[in-house]
Amino acid sequence: MNNPHTSVLLNESIDGLNIKSDGIYVDGTFGAGGHSFQILNNLKKGHLFAFDQDETVLKFIDERFINHPNFTFIQHNFSTMQHQLNQRGIQEVDGILLDLGMSSMHIDQPERGFSYMHEGPLDMRMNLNQKITAEVILNTYDYHALLKIFRDYGDIEKPHVFANVIINNRPYHTTKDVVKVTDFFFKGKKGHSAKAVFQALRIEVNQELNVLEDVLKQSLNLLKSDGRLVVITFHSLEDRIVKHFMKTHSTVKQLKGLPIALDEKPLFELMTRKPILPSEKELLENSRSASAKLRISKKTDNS
Ligand SMILES: C[S@@+](CC[C@H](N)C(=O)[O-])C[C@H]1O[C@@H](n2cnc3c(N)ncnc32)[C@H](O)[C@@H]1O
Repeated sequence: MNNPHTSVLLNESIDGLNIKSDGIYVDGTFGAGGHSFQILNNLKKGHLFAFDQDETVLKFIDERFINHPNFTFIQHNFSTMQHQLNQRGIQEVDGILLDLGMSSMHIDQPERGFSYMHEGPLDMRMNLNQKITAEVILNTYDYHALLKIFRDYGDIEKPHVFANVIINNRPYHTTKDVVKVTDFFFKGKKGHSAKAVFQALRIEVNQELNVLEDVLKQSLNLLKSDGRLVVITFHSLEDRIVKHFMKTHSTVKQLKGLPIALDEKPLFELMTRKPILPSEKELLENSRSASAKLRISKKTDNS
């Protein structure tokens, strides 16, 4: 099958995992399986557990993965990672990879509603079994709920006014219904008028920031010493969470006036003080990599 999604920062993230051939690895975001395939290629006796909440990725579990003895696919949100792994008898892993957000398949299929460039239903769900869609949010959320989304998830200018504009122009059924409003409200602004609004809606529909916080916390319990946490983000809200998490857990907090115990060590060692960015070559070959940032941490032996 032709791969419809070009994996971002592929070599850099696989290097970051520092794969041991008998290790246990988790790909939290299987997508079209690009990263998973590379991980699997590096395993001999080890195992790869791959998560994706989107049932439509099942078609990418092709001859590369199917019946592979070292591969297990888990169709669940990665926020359930620890529970799902424990249920399969796995308490600790050697590496976790998260390549966050949407795939090219999401953007390129108008019927999923992720793209402001094409007309489609206002859906934006990665998990097609969930009830909340962008249409539900736009047509039913009250002023305060909309204000929070536009202010916190889209950094939208004048979110108070925009929340009221959205309420006053109800109902919305397709992506174009929203673009008509953003074209009017953000007239003359740089970039596409709907970009930030679509980002904010997508984050709310999929609770993207909450599930990211959840899985990062779980990585503290799941990773063995020397295990790697490798995260690729695509916007500043995600990156801020990952950066803060890795920084917090790679520093020992010193309480005022109290000395640090000599045996006290942070849980993580930061492998990337600055994020790794796509090379010039990757940017030329795949413009969708432009906003990607890769951060890597290593679990210390302080357990
Ligand atoms: C950027 S793509 C991953 C692409 C993949 N690394 C590759 O090389 O083909 C992100 C994928 O993660 C999935 N995803 C995003 N958030 C998720 C979550 N919280 N739980 C499970 N899957 C998630 C999406 O459905 C999508 O298929």
